[in-house]
Amino acid sequence: MKRIAIFSSGSGSNFQAIVDAVQSGELDASIKLLVCDQPDAFVIERAKASGIPAFVFRAKDFESKDAFETAIHEELVLHGVEFIVLAGYMRLIGSTLLEKYATNIVNIHPSLLPAFPGKDAIGQALQSGVKITGVTIHYVDAGMDTGPIIEQECIRITKDETKSSLQEKVHRIEHGLYPRTLNTLFQTS
Ligand code: GAR
Repeated sequence: MKRIAIFSSGSGSNFQAIVDAVQSGELDASIKLLVCDQPDAFVIERAKASGIPAFVFRAKDFESKDAFETAIHEELVLHGVEFIVLAGYMRLIGSTLLEKYATNIVNIHPSLLPAFPGKDAIGQALQSGVKITGVTIHYVDAGMDTGPIIEQECIRITKDETKSSLQEKVHRIEHGLYPRTLNTLFQTS
């Protein structure tokens, strides 16, 4: 059973979907740790409610990315984490963690990469006028949403689409796709 850490900066609906999938037996994994860089994030409450330990930090309390990633790494080792799942973690992973976890870091992004990388992918898609967008799960490398693509699912943008209606569609897809894709990955690795 893969021992994972989930990294999140926000509400954590994807964190919750992964927790639920583990509890229902749909995902064969053990969630050892939440890593969160926002002390007020709702995901911390979700972790508490599920009895999952959390490492919460503020980047500005450290002198460099290397310093906070070294602190994260110590926690990952302490909890025996083998694999990192980014779920709404709004920071680029630096060389410290990339060197330690290499091909064992994945991310979910709310667009059909390579379209609309970076922040506000949903707003970018709406602005651009595309009729199809979607969700991508990919391995993480040093770039911004540039790692090898593992899985994608598309979403049609309707005529009267708003940012919140599109956000809702994205979340609905993500909450099914992420646990399913992780389970396939863990079964084959
Ligand atoms: C998700 O939609 C995820 O795809 C996105 O943040 C949201 C987090 O929602 N990630 C990115 O934009 C990464 N570039 P959640 O906190 O409810 O899981």
